[in-house]
Amino acid sequence: MAAPDKKILAELKKLRAEIDRHNRLYYVDDNPAISDAEYDRLFDHLLEIERQFPELVTPDSPSQRVGAPVSKKFAVVQHRVPMLSLQKVTSEEEFEQFDRRVREGLETSGEIEYITEPKLDGLAVELVYEHGLFVLGSTRGDGRSGENITVNLRTLRTVPLRLSEETAKRCPLLEVRGEVIMKKSAFAHLNDALEANNLPPLANPRNAAAGSLRQLDSSVTASRPLMFYAYGISDTDLESLDRHQRVMELLRHEGFLINDLIAPTTGTEAVGRAFETLQSAREQLDYEIDGMVVKVDRFNQQTILGQISRAPRWAVAWKFAAETAPTVVEEIEFSVGRTGVVTPVATFEPVKVSGVYVSRATLHNADRIQELDIRKGDTVTVRRAGDVIPEVVDVDKSKRVKGTRPVEFRKKCPSCEEPITRSEGEAAHRCLNPACPAQLERRLFHFASKSGFDIEGLGGKLARQLIDEKLVRNPADLFFLTKEQLLPLDLMAEKKAQNLLNAIDQSRTTPLPRLIYALGIPSVGEAAAGLLAGQFETFEKFETTSTEELTAVDGIGPIIAACIGDFFANEGNQSMLKRMREGGVQFPVFQSLAATGKLAGKTFVITGTLSQPRGYFKNLIEEHGGRVASAVSAKTNYLLGGADAGSKLAKARKLGTTIINESGLEQLLNNTND
Ligand code: IVH
Repeated sequence: MAAPDKKILAELKKLRAEIDRHNRLYYVDDNPAISDAEYDRLFDHLLEIERQFPELVTPDSPSQRVGAPVSKKFAVVQHRVPMLSLQKVTSEEEFEQFDRRVREGLETSGEIEYITEPKLDGLAVELVYEHGLFVLGSTRGDGRSGENITVNLRTLRTVPLRLSEETAKRCPLLEVRGEVIMKKSAFAHLNDALEANNLPPLANPRNAAAGSLRQLDSSVTASRPLMFYAYGISDTDLESLDRHQRVMELLRHEGFLINDLIAPTTGTEAVGRAFETLQSAREQLDYEIDGMVVKVDRFNQQTILGQISRAPRWAVAWKFAAETAPTVVEEIEFSVGRTGVVTPVATFEPVKVSGVYVSRATLHNADRIQELDIRKGDTVTVRRAGDVIPEVVDVDKSKRVKGTRPVEFRKKCPSCEEPITRSEGEAAHRCLNPACPAQLERRLFHFASKSGFDIEGLGGKLARQLIDEKLVRNPADLFFLTKEQLLPLDLMAEKKAQNLLNAIDQSRTTPLPRLIYALGIPSVGEAAAGLLAGQFETFEKFETTSTEELTAVDGIGPIIAACIGDFFANEGNQSMLKRMREGGVQFPVFQSLAATGKLAGKTFVITGTLSQPRGYFKNLIEEHGGRVASAVSAKTNYLLGGADAGSKLAKARKLGTTIINESGLEQLLNNTND
């Protein structure tokens, strides 16, 4: 293989710059300067040179946008600065209240300079640029940590792979945030193509974007028409950037796609008008939006306002009223939840609401039924607000047919036929039978879910059978199941039974946060379970804690505390916990990865050229509890070296430090204890 000469290097540089420029003209500016065929010719030329000189392939080369298969799960990435969520308002009055709080916070009676932006309905991501190079991309996740989807994001033409030198100098670390979306038109095309290939269509552009981005095979992502719109950065203490507007200008200058409806808007009246305008433009836009984000423009004001829990005080999401659709009620059913609450549900012909087909909608409770005066056969309006379960909002009495009768709330549980009761002052009707099969089924399903004991193979059908056959009376019974008991069940074979038993066995060491969540304590969701595990560290401490100690935990209020108290006071729950212990469930001590990761306590130094940017390996190491230092010393445990490693390698050799390459690191991560 010939060594590349200066001419080749110069040509490569020119070619890459040329392709980047046309990418930007085409994907960001919507203003292509050359034909597709000419573009393909440039691209093929680049590929040809890189094939000849593979050592010249860099992570920011446009050729790296094609994607590659990966096999593993996505790694977890901590966001250096948490990705916050937004407070919501849904009316002019509520927005005015928000504005009042802002003015109070800033001690001003003057009008506030806001920026109004469409609230894009896609997937929030963060892009990290180190010295101008795109090194890490991640999903928002829970705001603190998300998934490492760098290779997938690299396939998006709207994600710049390198920033200008000027900006790289000014911001050696720049974390850009924004939304990945799929245009409505592109979504329609994609679905046509999927259907033409006999593949199931995707529900809506947002799901399509999320699904396309979270592909383990990034060449699938590369084939999907996704776009990244930048809407901010993680830190705002950049010199000479005193406003959000300036940041948007900088990002636009760097080749990021910035929504063209973002505009400075001063005072509440103007914001109200901007909202009206956006609402009437909504249908015509080729991307989905679910409201308008209003941000205080000046960074010094943002700083003064600060944040409350997970949302800034300087921004708000003014949401559009949820989309609705009319339909005809076929039946009114009663469904029993895992805590025994009996919820009335209307069923109907599937209708499309906010892009999704729905055929059931909650009626909440008896009061709501009375208020709506809903009857079988009525024409109703159904709403689906964001992720919220569909509900009936209105009954069109003018369309009521003759002979209908008001709904009578069930007196007996539809599952166990025990009487349903309603306590004083409570909105809900409940089935109080602790052995009610419907409740048990729901509890079991919740217990075994991914966020709980994660017992694969224990779906609704099997849960039902285990209960019907009286093999399981409460979740703890799962840990006593035998193959002999399982084999006679419907659709059960040797292998399936063994897999289930293996999954149950593995779940005996479920980490504390998931274990707490799985118990199904009313009001204790995943977030609360995580807080509780982090606070109390052992189940024993959690179990014996007082209400005072509980409410002292940031994020745990009196309602959750009371639910926890009631849960542990209940004898049935006590005996279930006892039986779980007898069944070999471990109740492990809560430990953060820093202490338990495979690389815990180990210090690494990274040097030389690796197959991925250094930031990638740094993240990988830290994620497993290791530490990355910049210089080799006697305390260094491992030197991770790539090609052309220089003085650090020499020093490591001298000190006798263990030297490993990428596959050595992989081995470290794959073996040792879990
Ligand atoms: S700003 C602290 N701007 O809305 C600022 N968010 O609840 C937080 N979103 O999932 C984000 N369009 O991805 C901001 N123009 C916009 C946005 C936007 C959509 C999403 C964001 C996040 C959610 C925030």
